[in-house]
Amino acid sequence: MNIDSLAFSLKNPSLSISSLSAPSIEAMPILPRLAHLRPLKAVDILHLEKIHPIVSGNKWYKLKYNLIEAKKQGFDSLLSCGGPHSNHLHALACAGQVFGLKTKAFVRGYEHLPLTPTLLDCQRMGMVLMFVDKQTYKQRYDDQWCQQQADAHSSYWIAEGGDNALGHQGCAELSEYCQGYDEVWLSIGSGCTFLGLAAGIRASLPQVSESIEPLMQGILAIKGGAQLAENLLLEAGMPHKIDTESHLGGFGKCPAALLALIKEYDQAGLALDPVYTAKLIMAFEHHWQTGLLDDEKRYLIIHSGGLQGRRGIAALSESSP
Ligand SMILES: Cc1ncc(COP(=O)(O)O)c(C=O)c1O
Repeated sequence: MNIDSLAFSLKNPSLSISSLSAPSIEAMPILPRLAHLRPLKAVDILHLEKIHPIVSGNKWYKLKYNLIEAKKQGFDSLLSCGGPHSNHLHALACAGQVFGLKTKAFVRGYEHLPLTPTLLDCQRMGMVLMFVDKQTYKQRYDDQWCQQQADAHSSYWIAEGGDNALGHQGCAELSEYCQGYDEVWLSIGSGCTFLGLAAGIRASLPQVSESIEPLMQGILAIKGGAQLAENLLLEAGMPHKIDTESHLGGFGKCPAALLALIKEYDQAGLALDPVYTAKLIMAFEHHWQTGLLDDEKRYLIIHSGGLQGRRGIAALSESSP
């Protein structure tokens, strides 16, 4: 992918990507195993993975106001953190390159290990990688430590995964695509997208009775997230729901059944990532097959991107989009 060839124009005078397209909404391909079920009124996918070759999925929404703020505050460097397959770092490296901001990141891992395809891309896009052990990496939740790092590197700090107030603000904009749906399904990691969208939905319906507000069904991609789910629901408010049992063994775990599902949807023309969106679709299928969905309802499933992460799974790396 030639990152230099991306053309940029400014919609917001300080930030917009002209090669960024508006997300499309298309019907989900219905695999043969679902075809005998009672049809639902609508099962649509919001294709955020197609908005940009790299800064795609929910990443653009989480990053955009952070980039604007960094520029406004006069920073020429962004600092963040992530794991070796991080979609966030990948998108950040690209965004930094195209907006003329240096990027640096703390990476959970070790310098002597071969770089993952994700980190190789990040380096190629100019990101400076600083490897840290697990203990140091844990400090990313300590605001004081983050501020110290930002000061030491004269950089604007962006929390892991872009999960901060400006990330929420960007994700709130996704609510415009949710109108007319009864339920909106999405994957959850930190919950930034979930909370941002919940706020956006609420704000977009100030005059209307709560019964028309689409219900958000989050599928948690991490194991042991009951407390996180509780906190998110408390903040997002009713009537939303979070499924904490569809992580398939934990974050990044990709059992054979999930691989098979990804390959089936590849054949049907819907590329999924193993960490977030494939688990989301599997959970949706499961709910449908077990009669938990309502055939009178319209469902929207958010494809939040992450396709670059397929390269982290050997069986998918050959066929990565
Ligand atoms: C592709 C993809 N989908 C979903 C998520 C989960 O988003 P959030 O952390 O906002 O819950 C992430 C993580 O950022 C992601 O990379």
